[in-house]
Amino acid sequence: SITHVILTGGVGSRLWPLSRKSKPKQYLDLFGGKSLFEMTVDRNRTIADTVMVVGNIDNCHLSKKVLEKTNTSYIDIVESTPRNTAAAIAFAAFASDPDAILIVTPSDHIIDDMAAYETAIHEAVVKASQGYIVTFGIIPTKPETGYGYIERKGDDVISFREKPNQVSARDFIAKGNFLWNSGMFCFKAGVFLEELKIFAPEVYEKSKIVWDAAVNGNLDLALSLEIPSISIDYAVMERSKKIKVVSSKFAWSDLGSFESVYDYLVSTGHPVDKKGNMVIGTTNYTAFVGLKNTIFVHTDTANLILQKDNSQDVKNVYNELEREN
Ligand code: GDD
Ligand code: MG
Repeated sequence: SITHVILTGGVGSRLWPLSRKSKPKQYLDLFGGKSLFEMTVDRNRTIADTVMVVGNIDNCHLSKKVLEKTNTSYIDIVESTPRNTAAAIAFAAFASDPDAILIVTPSDHIIDDMAAYETAIHEAVVKASQGYIVTFGIIPTKPETGYGYIERKGDDVISFREKPNQVSARDFIAKGNFLWNSGMFCFKAGVFLEELKIFAPEVYEKSKIVWDAAVNGNLDLALSLEIPSISIDYAVMERSKKIKVVSSKFAWSDLGSFESVYDYLVSTGHPVDKKGNMVIGTTNYTAFVGLKNTIFVHTDTANLILQKDNSQDVKNVYNELEREN
């Protein structure tokens, strides 16, 4: 059986103030009608026979709204606090038959070509059935530091490097055999748990304690806080020898930071001025003087003025506000 696991526990702090704790980016109607979350559900509807949502107590009502609207039955796992993706995926794996194939996807991506997506998924499912942990690689277009990089030879992974610095990222692009990690994975539940147990034993043990104590998929706060907060990328992908990569042919966009939102909006014809400045969230006439590659973001309660190259730093504003509140 194939289960689509949707990770939706992140707060999208790099997209503040569009993305708020009360309404993270994946639930916003940013891009014409459907939210990124709903697009994610739709994209996998014909591929998987089970849908599992690993989300957060603060946003599970938003997932529920979409899933009920679209008549989608699903298994709900509700975290009381985010403990990062290694633990979130462990919960999904604990909830599954060890032989079940899990397709794990974020809920904040745009993927355009459905036929190419399905081809990549089918290729991944075959490899996952053989006991591999499969990641979907994307051909890189720039030395982005917000992504993981997969050094590969064919479908073999030589190394996996999560969020490198500028210098390494440039080096990877120059070498030519590196792909971006899309953040989507496919594996047997049992294989993932074996690798997690080997490479991040504390995450495994503590997540298991939380899962065993879960009540109807609701996870305990105090126990959850014991789990080390680490992503699947650092915990497993950088360390496991069972990784294979499927090089994806579909157009992919991670809307993780304002830089990627900017690129995506430009590709859809959203205006920028002669110096590359962009306005998001208002139709008010806005002038930029002496500025270039600046993004101005307006919402009802907060504004952001951002140098595009500093997109990764927006999370600092979010974290600062969290501390004050
Ligand atoms: N349930 C749950 N709990 N979900 C979480 C948690 C958590 O604690 N933390 C993050 N998520 C969800 C996010 O909502 C998102 O859908 C997905 O997991 C990935 O987390 P991000 O925070 O968006 O990761 P990232 O963008 O920094 O990096 C990952 O994705 C990149 C591509 O978009 C990595 O896999 C990179 O290697 C990859 O390049
Ligand atoms: Mg992301």
